[in-house]
Amino acid sequence: MRLGIDFGTSFSLPATSYLDTSVILLPAGKYGIPSVFYYDDWEGVLIGENAEKAGQGLAAENLKREIKLELTSFFIADGKEFSAKQIVGYILQNVKEIAMATAASKLIDDSLEGVVISVPAAFGHNEKQIILEAAKIPASKGGPELNVLGFIKEPVAAALAYFQASLADKTRILVYDLGGGTCDVAIVEANSLFLEKYTVIDSDMVRIGGKDWDTKIEEYITLELEKQSGIIIGENPGYKEKIKREAISVKHAFSEKIGGTYREKVRARIEVNGRIYTIPVTKLIFHELTRDLLNQTIQLAELLVNRNNENEISEIVCVGGSSNMPQVQEGLRNSFSEISIRIFEPEKAIAIGASIYAQYCDNKEVFLSDIAAFSYGAECFRNYDDDPDDKIIVNLIQKGDRLPVTKMHRFKTIIDNQERVSFDIYESSKMVSEYDSEADAVPIMNVILELIVNMPKGTSITLYITLNTDGIIEAVADDERGHTVRVQKQLYF
Ligand SMILES: Nc1ncnc2c1ncn2[C@@H]1O[C@H](COP(=O)(O)OP(=O)(O)OP(=O)(O)O)[C@@H](O)[C@H]1O
Ligand SMILES: [Mg+2]
Repeated sequence: MRLGIDFGTSFSLPATSYLDTSVILLPAGKYGIPSVFYYDDWEGVLIGENAEKAGQGLAAENLKREIKLELTSFFIADGKEFSAKQIVGYILQNVKEIAMATAASKLIDDSLEGVVISVPAAFGHNEKQIILEAAKIPASKGGPELNVLGFIKEPVAAALAYFQASLADKTRILVYDLGGGTCDVAIVEANSLFLEKYTVIDSDMVRIGGKDWDTKIEEYITLELEKQSGIIIGENPGYKEKIKREAISVKHAFSEKIGGTYREKVRARIEVNGRIYTIPVTKLIFHELTRDLLNQTIQLAELLVNRNNENEISEIVCVGGSSNMPQVQEGLRNSFSEISIRIFEPEKAIAIGASIYAQYCDNKEVFLSDIAAFSYGAECFRNYDDDPDDKIIVNLIQKGDRLPVTKMHRFKTIIDNQERVSFDIYESSKMVSEYDSEADAVPIMNVILELIVNMPKGTSITLYITLNTDGIIEAVADDERGHTVRVQKQLYF
């Protein structure tokens, strides 16, 4: 059996392909496994619902949510330190265990061959590397590590699930995935003759998701609660956790229909020092608090539609739990009156897509042609003689380039008899030819070319960077005198 795992900011979900259909592997009545971690000396490590149960009241300070958004962080619970990588490892093992137990109960194959994990389209090499290493941490009881067959971008996974489910001739769709922590938008095309061939035309992401809606409501409830009770809630973890849970249930209540219409008002109820306080939240307040968040996600969708050909997009497909909010549908409809908008399996689509990909991923011929999801460039001096501290990054491969792609750039040595050149290669989202080194860019590899002596300052050194559809990046530095050095690295796609 192969598993597709949607490792989400708030919830994770496993699915597998069985007898040509996709099956979500969760116990009856469950919609997802909370991506939540808890530790104390007495309980040890708890994950998912068990973690949520344990992390009530003052114990909330031992509870870690939304680890996917801080993959390089550390968390201290009950005096013990855990890296984000360890926490992700626990979450993935927990998802696997639940999936395997559910599969066994449904009499599906019970041996696990490997997993495909979905990640936001804008996750770079380093983030995937952390998830990969996390998957390799064996389960606490000495169980086997997870064999990661590959990664798939969340909106692409959603598109796979959508294309598989609908036999319509609609081939180019915009996926709008508003989850717990990120909003991923991508334009994905299926070749209508070979449905197993997909092209990601464009993709982008903002770090905005359901949790930001929660925070806005939490802030509002806290303020009103402090006004009513005269108590300063401050950083008290027990109260904060209580308010967070109430804020989430208020948010969900606004997505429920009563007698055919959505609710106009919802009340939050919070107990403080034995007294219950009631805080009314109207739909108007809810919308005002969160309008800016919604607008930022819609602007991202507009950006993608505008930089591509609007006429060719046949449908907007909304996935992600937060797409259940009626304001999301409404907002999209107002901005894209010409394009039909539909909501498709908001909680399940990504896990289903990941499980479809898990089936095909070793057949490279059949699957996923792609574009560069990032730009790749090399660091150099802007003008060494004027200012040896002023460095820039020159992009060779641009985000959006069709793969496979090779680009070259000529650099020059900065002094006479230079002994070597060392290129640091950076990954970034910047779609420009060059940018300042301080900007948001992640070093991913280094190429060092030893030079023969007696080369004057200003000698050309050529750098080639190649990125292929398997995610292998190769950098070649060449002194144009017959000396080259080649460095390769597998980026996780
Ligand atoms: N009916 C609903 N109304 C409002 N929000 C909802 C509803 N159902 C789910 N959500 C919200 O959706 C979010 C979770 O969605 P989802 O499971 O797609 O995200 P995720 O996969 O955990 O996160 P991400 O994809 O960003 O990493 C949570 O913030 C949750 O509160
Ligand atoms: Mg998700």
